[in-house]
Amino acid sequence: TRPPATLLFIFGGSGDLNQRKLSPALYNLFLDGWMPEKFAIVGLGRTAYSDEKFRKHLYDGIQEFSRRKGEQNGHWKEFSQHVGYLQMDGEDEAAYSKIADKVKEVEEQFGEHPNVIFYLAVAPQLVPDIAVKLGKLNLCKDTIYTRIVVEKPFGHDLKSAHELNALLTSMFAEDQIYRIDHYLGKETVQNILALRFANALFEPIWNRNYIDHIQITNAETVGVEGRGGYYEQSGALRDMVQNHILQLICMIAMDAPVNFEANEIRNKKVDVLNALRKITRDEVHAYAVRGQYSEGWMKGDKVKGYRQEEKVAPQSPTETFAAIKFYIDNWRWQDVPIYVRTGKHLHDKTTIITVQFKQAPHYAFPPEAAETWRPNRLTISIQPKTDIRLRFQAKRPGQTMTLSPVDMIFNYEDAYDGHEPEAYETLLLDVMEGNPTQFMRADQVESAWKVVMPIIEAWEQRPPVDFPNYSPGSWGPEDAEALIARDGRNWVTLP
Ligand code: BG6
Repeated sequence: TRPPATLLFIFGGSGDLNQRKLSPALYNLFLDGWMPEKFAIVGLGRTAYSDEKFRKHLYDGIQEFSRRKGEQNGHWKEFSQHVGYLQMDGEDEAAYSKIADKVKEVEEQFGEHPNVIFYLAVAPQLVPDIAVKLGKLNLCKDTIYTRIVVEKPFGHDLKSAHELNALLTSMFAEDQIYRIDHYLGKETVQNILALRFANALFEPIWNRNYIDHIQITNAETVGVEGRGGYYEQSGALRDMVQNHILQLICMIAMDAPVNFEANEIRNKKVDVLNALRKITRDEVHAYAVRGQYSEGWMKGDKVKGYRQEEKVAPQSPTETFAAIKFYIDNWRWQDVPIYVRTGKHLHDKTTIITVQFKQAPHYAFPPEAAETWRPNRLTISIQPKTDIRLRFQAKRPGQTMTLSPVDMIFNYEDAYDGHEPEAYETLLLDVMEGNPTQFMRADQVESAWKVVMPIIEAWEQRPPVDFPNYSPGSWGPEDAEALIARDGRNWVTLP
């Protein structure tokens, strides 16, 4: 069933996020029959736009960024009739009455009170001010109908995240607040729960008795792409690890939920975050490695070093790469390392999770049977490849007992014909339906900050001496190899 009547306001309506992600997502939901029967989308911003011009701006975004482009048999025209623009200065309190007026107008048009959603697609420093001004509107006191969506970064550290939570929860009920982590909207990420908890096969061996270690590689080939101003304040740890990667760890490591209630799932994830080992600042060097890309070549193209990027300081200490070894101190995971690495301008664009099992306990075959005897490994490819493969030993056909590893593969493209929805489609539909399961609760965000704070502090205290320390197109600094090699293991990449 479709969500109830909805009025969606997008602060930062003329901005990048709306053009690249939100509007394409809403349009795709519309094409797939998921938009409410009655809906209106209103872009808000300082820039002057007529409705027509604004629609054109969004249409250009669809053409460039959507998984489905173009008119689609006149559907864009139909969709765009629901889209309008309201010029307003978010800093001007008086202007907020325009919003209240708009709600009344749409209510009359719909003949019912719609859900009202405020999507804050704006720079993080603008969020508190807008939230406070919105919070003063009567309609925001309506905890059933009114919701607010907040993008990352959610705070800059534990303290500021806590302050932001305090501010938001003083104006809105927790149920009204949707903190987005777009990784949680990815099909392949949501499928981790299905894989683990809809099958009897994996869960019994999903623990320290059978699993040797877990790895997450989240690599990008792009650099900071003109976002130097933002990235200087962030770095890989804040940009990727505190949110996306810790959420992936939660999905992989959480205990089985009792049901699919939003808070049940989120409680199980918070348990993981709380159990993640808080290392001390002095120990950080043994657990974490940072890197920054130099100038160099990517697939034949010359690329700038990070320090030469726009709005980046010439001696910038900001990391564009991070590799960390985590431990989860609980009964299930004690002593099982979770190695993660993420970075810009790396060799490949790929996000994969590998679960490596222990060696079989006894080897009964003749020694010559297995030159390449490998432990079982489950690899979950999140993107851009979307598959799950299980590696096991097989007998090579022939007159000798020779073993070699083979893969059993589940591949999205072969298994399903449809196109997978994009993360923002799934998450926007969740907001319209009022389902916060895949959104970050206040305590989740803060627990995640607690995990990375010692690393942030240690790195700030000791500026890097070897930056830049990796070439574009590589897999990051040598120290990242050493981090895992020390334990007799190595990073896994897809063939
Ligand atoms: C964003 C980060 O949250 O995630 C970006 O700010 C990063 O720096 C992006 O490029 C990666 O998202 P995806 O979906 O392409 O893996």
